[in-house]
Amino acid sequence: GFEVMCAASGARVPVGPDVSVLDALSAAGVPVPSSCQEGVCGTCETKVLGGEPDHRDFVLSPAEREAGGTMMICVSRCRSAELVLDL
Ligand code: FES
Repeated sequence: GFEVMCAASGARVPVGPDVSVLDALSAAGVPVPSSCQEGVCGTCETKVLGGEPDHRDFVLSPAEREAGGTMMICVSRCRSAELVLDL
């Protein structure tokens, strides 16, 4: 697991191995718009301010993955202990 830090609100949300970032945030009262929940539509795209995203979506190009500035939080995870999102 890892911890999501919401830069705008200051909320810290732990994300366990069996829950998506999207669901963990929603349960913690930080709802993000979503649709497919399978990493294909791009609705849940969220700006990344820190940490190392582990991209598992089908939306971003290789260059966008490499840049790491954005991620689909319905499927993608994090390789570092902390992921900082612009939420
Ligand atoms: Fe569709 Fe995340 S909800 S890509």
